[in-house]
Amino acid sequence: MKLSVYRIAANQCRTTCILDVKTENPAVKTFTFKDKECAKAEPGQFLMLWIPKVDEIPLSILDARKNGEVAVAVKKVGEATEALHSKKVGEVIGIRGPFGNSFTIKNCRILMVSGGTGIAPLLFLTKKLASKTTKLVFVMGAKTKEELMFIDELDELCSEGNVVATTEDGSYGVKGLATTPLETLLTKERFDMICTCGPEQMMRKVFDLAEKHGIALEASLERLMRCAIGLCGSCVVGKYRVCRDGPVFNDVRLREVKAEFGKSKRDFDGRKIPV
Ligand SMILES: Cc1cc2nc3c(=O)[nH]c(=O)nc-3n(C[C@H](O)[C@H](O)[C@H](O)COP(=O)(O)OP(=O)(O)OC[C@H]3O[C@@H](n4cnc5c(N)ncnc54)[C@H](O)[C@@H]3O)c2cc1C
Ligand code: FES
Repeated sequence: MKLSVYRIAANQCRTTCILDVKTENPAVKTFTFKDKECAKAEPGQFLMLWIPKVDEIPLSILDARKNGEVAVAVKKVGEATEALHSKKVGEVIGIRGPFGNSFTIKNCRILMVSGGTGIAPLLFLTKKLASKTTKLVFVMGAKTKEELMFIDELDELCSEGNVVATTEDGSYGVKGLATTPLETLLTKERFDMICTCGPEQMMRKVFDLAEKHGIALEASLERLMRCAIGLCGSCVVGKYRVCRDGPVFNDVRLREVKAEFGKSKRDFDGRKIPV
């Protein structure tokens, strides 16, 4: 009974005003606003953000604070995200959520691997875990130095030398993809768990490496989402709906959807297309 009342509250769209807008890189801005429901979110959960007269889009929660403030980091990729990027402090947006499950909070040796805006839920997770884990190494990937985000925050949270940045053009850190330093890292050091979020092909590579080294893994998946409450089926992967059963999937569930994970997804018409 309690759970269904909670779900109804989460699914009702609340309007709120933008409190702060911060430019993280040329394509990404962080938006902060107040929302009582989403301020209770756990790392990995997402919300649906409505841009009046434009669209409603799913976004990972970057931060949820005790004072009711919530933050999301948004990359400009199309109509809705472009409209959101043009919004200023004081303008109105709508919020539903939080939705979905979250990463497991565990005191163990953890390796985080992020690509692009996939850093958002993992930074939130790192904030919760940093003081609790025995070991935390964060590998983040971006195309260029300009696109790397939240390095200072991560440097403050992780011990020295435990933040590894990679760039595809070699303009900062290790040259290559986020997966480039992993083989060496996994051979040299011991981890109990890998948490990953980013482009699905990257996460598939991380999953294959975790399988090879016998390490537990949790990955946050992205699919097209409309309802966010398990009704429309647009986010389906195998027998799962990413909005209700995920977005965080552990290695056991990922093995069940191995044929699709990192390979295919559904488009707006429900057709299977490559990821
Ligand atoms: C659980 C989840 C968490 C996400 N977290 C973040 C985040 O923290 N930051 C961030 O910048 N983006 C995040 N996204 C992706 C974000 O939802 C899309 O970039 C956004 O919906 C694109 O809208 P648009 O109108 O600007 O682009 P469009 O013109 O609609 O499309 C541009 C691209 O975005 C993809 N896309 C479009 N609509 C959706 C949708 N409803 N769901 C997923 N992908 C879509 C399309 O496949 C296309 O490649 C997340 C998606 C999911 C499912
Ligand atoms: S978004 Fe509708 S079922 Fe998941």
